[in-house]
Parts: sequence; C-alpha cells; structure tokens
Amino acid sequence: MESIIVCGGARLTGEVSVSGAKNSALKLMAASLMAPGVSRLRNVPHIADVEVMSQVLQALGAHVSRDGDVLEIDASELTSHEAPYEFVAQMRASTAVLGPLITRLGEAVVAMPGGCNIGSRKIDMHLRGLEALGAEVHFGHGSIDVTVPAEGLSPAQVTLDFPSVGATENLLMASVLVTGETVIENAAREPEIVDLINYLGAMGADIRGGGTSTVTVTGVSELHPADHTVIGDRVEAGTYLVAGAITGGPVTVRGFDPIHLEIVVTKLEAAGSEVEVGDDWVTVRRDGPVRAIDIQTLPYPGFPTDMQAQFMAMLALANGNSIITENVFENRFMFADELMRMGADVRIEGHHALVKGVPSLSGAPVRSTDLRGGAALVLAALAAEGETRVGDIFHIDRGYDRFCDKLAALGADVRRES
Ligand code: UD1
Repeated sequence: MESIIVCGGARLTGEVSVSGAKNSALKLMAASLMAPGVSRLRNVPHIADVEVMSQVLQALGAHVSRDGDVLEIDASELTSHEAPYEFVAQMRASTAVLGPLITRLGEAVVAMPGGCNIGSRKIDMHLRGLEALGAEVHFGHGSIDVTVPAEGLSPAQVTLDFPSVGATENLLMASVLVTGETVIENAAREPEIVDLINYLGAMGADIRGGGTSTVTVTGVSELHPADHTVIGDRVEAGTYLVAGAITGGPVTVRGFDPIHLEIVVTKLEAAGSEVEVGDDWVTVRRDGPVRAIDIQTLPYPGFPTDMQAQFMAMLALANGNSIITENVFENRFMFADELMRMGADVRIEGHHALVKGVPSLSGAPVRSTDLRGGAALVLAALAAEGETRVGDIFHIDRGYDRFCDKLAALGADVRRES
C-alpha cells in the first residue's frame, strides 16, 4: 500500500497542465463499443479508472492499445455483452457500457455498481429511461440484464427526475440508432455530456441541444469509428487552482476551458484569491487571508460536487465560518473526519457542513475516503504545519494523472512512499 507524504508550508508557484477529463474519457471509451472498427481517442489521462475501463472493454471483446496519450479501441467484433462484477465493483462508471451494449448487441448484463463510497448512487433513472425506450430490464444474481425486444427499441420522450449525468449518457447512447426522435428532458448539461455528444456526432449520430436541458436524438442507421480529443479535466484544473489558493501561488493551470469552471473561479475570488482568466488557462494568487464563504453543490452550471472537498480544505483555514451544502450526493462529507484529525473544525448536520475557520492545520496521518476527498487531504497537507501521511491513495490514483509529480513541479514537498 502506498501513501503520499507531504511536508506542508511551501508556497506553490508556476504552471501546470491538466490531462484529459476522466469523466469524459471513460464515457467516450464506452461509446467506442458502438462503432465496428478502430476508434482513436486523444488526450486520454493516465489514471487507474481508464485502466479499469480498458479491461471492461477487453472483457467484452474489444482490443485496446495505448501510445502515450492516444488510446485505440478496436471494436470490430464484440464477443460478450456482460460487464463482470470484478470491474463494475471497482468502478461505477462501468455502467456506461449499458447503453452502448444494447445498441450494438441488443443485450447488456451489468453487475450492480460499486465505486466511490459517496452515498447510495442508484441507477434507477438509467433503467427507467431505457424502459421508456422499450427495453426490458431484469434483476438477478447481483446483475441487471437489459434486453431489446424483437421489434427493437422505439423513440420516446423521457423526463429525468434529476439531471443525472450517467442516466443522460446511457440514454443518449441507447437511442442513437433508434429510428425516430427521442427527447431527453431535464438532461444533464455538464461539459462531459457535450464532449460525448460531439464524439457521437463524429461517429455519425444526429443529436441536438447538447449543453441544454432538452436533448433531441434523431436515430441514424449506423455509426462509424471516429478520432476525437478528450476535453481538459475541469475538476483536475480546479484542484490545482485550490492548491494555488491554499498556499498563496501564483499558480497557472492550463489545458482546459475556463468557462467550465466559471462558478469555481467566482468562489475562489469570493474566498480572497485574485484570479486571472485566459483562453485555456487560469492563474490564481492569494496574499490576504482566506475569506469564509458559503457553497452549495448543484448540477452544472452550479458548483460541482467534485470540487466540494477541495474547497472545504481551503475554508478550514478561513477567517470565519462557512456553510457547505451538498445537494448532489448523500454522504459526501466522509473525508471531513480526516480533515478534523488535522485540526479543522467541521460540524456535519445532514447535508450541511459548518466549517469554522482555524488559524492553522497540523500534519497528521490520515486516509483517503474517496477520490476527491483524498485530493482535498493532500491540499490541506500542503498548507499544514509539519508532515502529513495520506493513506489509501488508490482512491486518488483513480482520477489524478501523476498528481505528486505535478504538485512537486509547482514546488510542493510531496512524495509517494510504500
Ligand atoms: C458523474 C461523475 C461524478 C460527478 C457526478 C455529478 C462520472 C464517472 N462521474 O457521476 O464525478 O460527481 O456525475 O456531477 O462521470 N441518481 C439516482 N438514480 C440514478 C442516477 C443518479 O438516484 O439513476 C442520483 C445519484 O445517487 C446522485 C445524483 O443522482 O445522488 C447524481 O448522480 P449522477 O449525476 O448520475 O452522477 P454520476 O453519473 O454517478
């Protein structure tokens, strides 16, 4: 088991480039299953979740090879429609193969998901949407079996109860070859959805309204392989911006679209940082105190739940009290207990966290509870007095490409240790 060891106190300065977006790359990989032939994805991050998705695709009969940041997926022949438990248990995003498999093979068996331990994370909306298209859903032996009836799927108007990212993606991928017009209302508007729609468009799909709450899919007769560059990771970018803000900076983060982080930039400014925004970069610097602010997470374009933990780490050092409200996931404050071991003063009440700023944090042995919570502990450690050992860093490796190397290049005293 490896840990990340951080000696706090260094002011991070310099430039860092983000990798391709995890949450985009995983879905684009799944979508590639629908095109017989060889698809090419560029700017694919080197993270454990991409490895797991590669194994899922291989278990289904695709061939996956990597050359640097380029991933080639040969889906000429698929040999299975079953995403095995060993992968789905490791990574919930494996459920993104549901839509592609029913489109390509007419059946998908996917083990019930595991993944980040941040609430119940059901997939009922995915399944209700697929049923609205006429798919038959059966549960048994820990798996979900979705089949297309002999007459095929039919177009439908589906209104999601909540703009779920995963449900929107699965419905898009399930409906691209369904003759007629399928409309998804209350669709998720995240940039990763738009990236998927652009990729599907390059594969021959006809989809309008990406990035809005109403997405219309007009079925086409076939899809072909495409070559696509994954968008920059806005959450990775936001994480390095908080690293700059918590230690002082200036830190410039490159390789993503700053529009995707608009509210994060606004909140960094409200919390006492100066921020400069360019075309594909943002610079953050803080000379005064961290100011207390309130945050509530919401679907895009609201404040991202995936940035909540990093902001809590920063607000733990603010000059007053902040309230963080988590509206997207249940049980996403688990890392707060670890932050408290470093001296933070946090009280959790339901989906609210009251963060009372303290003058300093102190290094301590802590453990990652989930991907973003783990990254947030490293950020807290950068600003803490003394040494922090962050354990269970496999969570961090799931979604951050060369995290320690990038932080070290900014001047952090950080290393991995067995
Ligand atoms: C994706 C992202 C995740 C991000 C989240 C919200 C990936 C791999 N993960 O997760 O990093 O935090 O979007 O931006 O892209 N829900 C249901 N039933 C469903 C589907 C969802 O109850 O059928 C609930 C979930 O439990 C959660 C909320 O809806 O409370 C949002 O989930 P969703 O938007 O689907 O997130 P994911 O796609 O799982």
